[in-house]
Amino acid sequence: MRIVLGVGGGIAAYKAASLLRLFTEAGHSVQVIPTEASTRFVGVATWEALSGKPVSTSVFDAVDTVNHVRLGHEADLVVVAPATADLLARAAAGLASDLLTNTLLMAHGPVFFAPAMHTEMWNHAATQANVAVLRSRGATVMEPATGRLTGKDSGPGRLPEPEDIFAAALAAAGQASDEAGSSAAGRLSGQTVTVTAGGTREPLDPVRFLGNRSSGKQGAAVAEAALAAGARVRFIAAHMEVPVPAGVELVQVETALELRDAVHAAASSTDILVMSAAVADFRPGENAETKIKKRDDGTDPVITLVRNPDILHEVVQRRAESDAGAAAHPLVIVGFAAETGDGSASVLEYGRRKLERKGCDLLVLNQVGRSLVFGQDTTEVRILSPQDAPGSEPTAVAGSKADIARHLIDRIAERLDAAMPSV
Ligand code: CTP
Repeated sequence: MRIVLGVGGGIAAYKAASLLRLFTEAGHSVQVIPTEASTRFVGVATWEALSGKPVSTSVFDAVDTVNHVRLGHEADLVVVAPATADLLARAAAGLASDLLTNTLLMAHGPVFFAPAMHTEMWNHAATQANVAVLRSRGATVMEPATGRLTGKDSGPGRLPEPEDIFAAALAAAGQASDEAGSSAAGRLSGQTVTVTAGGTREPLDPVRFLGNRSSGKQGAAVAEAALAAGARVRFIAAHMEVPVPAGVELVQVETALELRDAVHAAASSTDILVMSAAVADFRPGENAETKIKKRDDGTDPVITLVRNPDILHEVVQRRAESDAGAAAHPLVIVGFAAETGDGSASVLEYGRRKLERKGCDLLVLNQVGRSLVFGQDTTEVRILSPQDAPGSEPTAVAGSKADIARHLIDRIAERLDAAMPSV
């Protein structure tokens, strides 16, 4: 691939040298385009030596080869790392003030930003609005890593590790490398996948909540497998015990109702929805404004629970009611079920009933027990679908959560092929 590597003016610019190495060693041809400010951190000579190509920051160099038009036009992928707040703002505004921003305006292929800046700058409404604009135009903006920043401070804003940027950028370009180990590499290229993950927390008062033991590991693994298969991934995260995967578009939620809003907002522009979040079926009927205190009269509070909406079922219903016919989105809806089985029905029977009740296209059925599934790295599932022959026994898939996720992506890709309106 022909890759343009844009380098913004931040202290993390030196890490782009490792990223350049990763791209060239993987056989890609890389043209580096630094901003003028970034050359205060890493000089043009470094980029020329490492890339073996002439490097310039300005539209007025090599005018005869019309670089400001040609480089973006010819690139199969444009990766900007580090993307500073200033660079994201200029890109969102469509400015063409230097060679890099000209190139971004000329880019035909995927555009990928790996931001790095101070936490306050990243969280600022202006930066978040710029990120939203870029994403709405189809660019991938990675979530920054969390950790030590330039000074003594730490928080979200660190440039993700070059290996993570490398993997996520190639995935965004639908060119997941074989090293990613995905049998579904590139199979979801051009598709948008929304994954919900983690456990919702239902507040009782400002300090207490009802929660669950979901770690978010399976959802994170599905998101990584979808990225490796070339998809654009929206990640709706409730409470997670594991880090949010690099390269996703993150929507952070807390409660089932917030998760529901985020899912419905994403559904119509989502090709594939994977509901791996553990959504609380009930929430406290009242969320006290102030901390619930022990009472002097010795009586104890009573918590009344009310039903949360079944989000998965709602999305299936809305799709059925949509007037988009066979093209109604999400094209593939995946649910999860955790069952123990009991005297009246087996795990598989409960799974089949749930598949029918929820109406989704695939159901990932987990057998749970005291030490099974929650927080574990390995698991065994069966994937059920309404197309299964009656009475058939779906084969169990055992392995790490990453193995399960890759298998699920294969099954999703098959369903997607079947669901795609024929042209
Ligand atoms: N789910 C949802 N909205 C809810 C509850 C669950 O969308 N309010 C989704 C989950 O994300 C998961 C699937 O539905 O994909 C799990 O179904 P659920 O009925 O919650 O499973 P259990 O809690 O195991 O159900 P039951 O009470 O029937 O055992």
